[in-house]
Amino acid sequence: MLKTLDCKILMTDGTGESPARVTSPDSACSFLEHGGIIFFPESPFKFSARDHEFLLSQKQKDADYHKNIAYRPAEDRVTGIDARSMDVERLRSIMADFHGQVYRFLNSFLSPYGRSWKADFATYRPIEERGRKMRLRARNDLLHVDSFATRPIYGDRILRTFININPNQNRVWETSDNFEALAHRFASSVAPPRPFTAEAKDSSAFETLLRRFGIKANASSPYDAWMLNFHNFLKENERFQSTARKDHWEFPPNSSWIVFTDMVSHSVLEGQYALEQTFIVSQNDLVCPEKAPINLLRKIYRLH
Ligand code: SIN
Ligand code: FE
Repeated sequence: MLKTLDCKILMTDGTGESPARVTSPDSACSFLEHGGIIFFPESPFKFSARDHEFLLSQKQKDADYHKNIAYRPAEDRVTGIDARSMDVERLRSIMADFHGQVYRFLNSFLSPYGRSWKADFATYRPIEERGRKMRLRARNDLLHVDSFATRPIYGDRILRTFININPNQNRVWETSDNFEALAHRFASSVAPPRPFTAEAKDSSAFETLLRRFGIKANASSPYDAWMLNFHNFLKENERFQSTARKDHWEFPPNSSWIVFTDMVSHSVLEGQYALEQTFIVSQNDLVCPEKAPINLLRKIYRLH
């Protein structure tokens, strides 16, 4: 399958498109973990013309509150669309199909990750990003690395797969230095993380206990708290936003791209109608664990 797929490796260190090729699942994982974007000029994910038309006609409810329309694979339901709408079931079924397509594709294309990854939400982004009004920390037109504000991931990784389903308009991104460079550069400007040791086990046991008593835990962990703080720090740093080195990317209609958004700093400047599927990749399945933000932070702050 790899041979017949036309994909390119986009480097986010200022060197542009790489002449290197994806020759195996391990090589694809390695490019991604180093901060590359794998780009498919023709998306491997397909929709019927009717489903495509249906998606383009969807409106999002409460766009201020719900950043996107989301499909939750574990519960097999969609949120962010008016619950009284007759179209909820159709949207659920299209999003479930998209989720399934990405799952099957990545399970082979990035096979090392399929061992213990978790499928997170798939999202539909029908709102024009240019000029979109959002609170500063929710704005996606400012450079940032992703972090999960409400669902702790304890050092596991955020892998996102996008498809631009707009028939006419490119989706436009900028990227800057990757997490490794930025964490080094700003190490003395942000508070160091609390120790990471055994946090996953302790916190999740504690949250399970709280949930048993009906208390919704404000889930976090030292790693997640640091990443969220760093995400906010970057968005709030006007000097960084205006002076950072930037690469400009145009993702045309019907193209797809895969990226670790906790590694690649990114912003979306314009574009309307994109689908995206997130997987949480386990630290244990990484091909280059030394490039995982949690291990880079251990090194930078000498947490061993
Ligand atoms: C983001 O993750 O910051 C948004 C990317 C996009 O919607 O294209
Ligand atoms: Fe983001």
